[in-house]
Amino acid sequence: MTDPIKISALQLENVKRVRAVALTPTENGLTILGGRNGQGKTSVLDAIAWALGGDRYKPTGAAREGSVLPPDIRITLSNGLLVERKGKNSSLTVTDPEGKRYGQKLLDAFVGTFAIDLPRFLHASDKEKAETLLRVIGVGDQLKELEHKCEDVYSHRHAVGQIVTQKEAHAKELPFHEGLPEEPVSASDLIRRQQDILLRNAENARKRARKAELEQRRIDLDKQIARLMNEANQVVADLKVAEMDALDLYDESTAELEQNIRDVDMLNAKIRQNLDRRRADAEAKAAADQYNDLTNQLEKLRADKRALLDGAALPLPGLTVENGCLTYKGHRWDCMSGAEQLIVGTAIARALNPSCGFVLLDKLEQLDAHTLNIFNGWLMQHGLQAIATRVSTGSECTVIIEDGGLRPDFPPITEGSQQGARAPEPSTPFRTWKAGEF
Ligand SMILES: Nc1ncnc2c1ncn2[C@@H]1O[C@H](COP(=O)(O)OP(=O)(O)O)[C@@H](O)[C@H]1O
Ligand SMILES: [Mg+2]
Repeated sequence: MTDPIKISALQLENVKRVRAVALTPTENGLTILGGRNGQGKTSVLDAIAWALGGDRYKPTGAAREGSVLPPDIRITLSNGLLVERKGKNSSLTVTDPEGKRYGQKLLDAFVGTFAIDLPRFLHASDKEKAETLLRVIGVGDQLKELEHKCEDVYSHRHAVGQIVTQKEAHAKELPFHEGLPEEPVSASDLIRRQQDILLRNAENARKRARKAELEQRRIDLDKQIARLMNEANQVVADLKVAEMDALDLYDESTAELEQNIRDVDMLNAKIRQNLDRRRADAEAKAAADQYNDLTNQLEKLRADKRALLDGAALPLPGLTVENGCLTYKGHRWDCMSGAEQLIVGTAIARALNPSCGFVLLDKLEQLDAHTLNIFNGWLMQHGLQAIATRVSTGSECTVIIEDGGLRPDFPPITEGSQQGARAPEPSTPFRTWKAGEF
């Protein structure tokens, strides 16, 4: 990959509040344009945005009031291109070192939108910020799909959870009797057994009658014994057989079965209740099993989401997307400090267009000296150039803008120092940024 493009030199005349400002910004890290309010600091950034971003970024009052000369902007880029806006119409010319001319299209290829207009990111909605980050890390579609699945499983589980509660309550309300058979007892079986016994008893009665009849006959035959000797002998023989038959007869009792028949309805009612209860318990358990299964699915989807984001190359440690919102160290945008917001925005602007090596930052006074120091370290570590404004005339400033120009006596000339832009020299020397800081 070719080196990211930076701003090597800058000359502005008669743009907004600027009379004349010439700068050679620091290649890596902060170039701080200091000064009091209304002196032209932001006008410098506006001029850069206009020159590099196109007429979309043209300030409404681009020409300096009171100047007879039109705006004149010259920006030399680190790839050798000279970008100029000058003349009555402030027309753009882009020239390479061989004198070849280009247009806005070439600039658009490597000038990041957020790099020249960070407020556009800073003031975007939470959702837009998250979408921008997901675009940077390239996992937006997959994350959306996982989030949809999570929502589906969550609402399905919620419905099943309500069914579990209902079914468990219903099962608990049903009575249950200990020590009974699993299946209802059949009454017809008992009745059949009773009928068999009654039949056998009827047979016994018949046999008894037969015996009595024969006895009667014997008495009759005795009377006719002479005449009916043969018949009497036969009858005697028959009688012997009949007597033998009658010898081992006994009658069975049906009392127990009668009792069982009386009890069977009550018994079966209880057994059916037990069956209902077992069925209700089983249904409640099945619903609870389904609920647990959905919980596992939900946990797996959430883990997939985490893994997707953890596996993506995030532009800043601690920066991620949670529930569709961008978070930094677990905090949503409105809970980040101004400094953190600036850092997050800068990191995203950087990641969004890797060929753009610079970013314009307005109002850096929201960073205290310590944070400014760490931020500068982070910029340098990432090879990023930042041109920033700050309401301050302290030693952390690279130049001081005063009445639309550079304050001539700043920085105070000491041995070895040069007039004009130079690396910032804050009271505490800049130190290296460590991963996880901010
Ligand atoms: N075209 C212009 N010509 C002259 N002065 C202007 C023009 N446009 C804005 N200003 C003045 O410039 C001042 C703001 O400049 P700005 O660069 O935002 O200052 P700073 O960022 O240093 O506070 C305001 O006082 C405004 O009236
Ligand atoms: Mg300003």
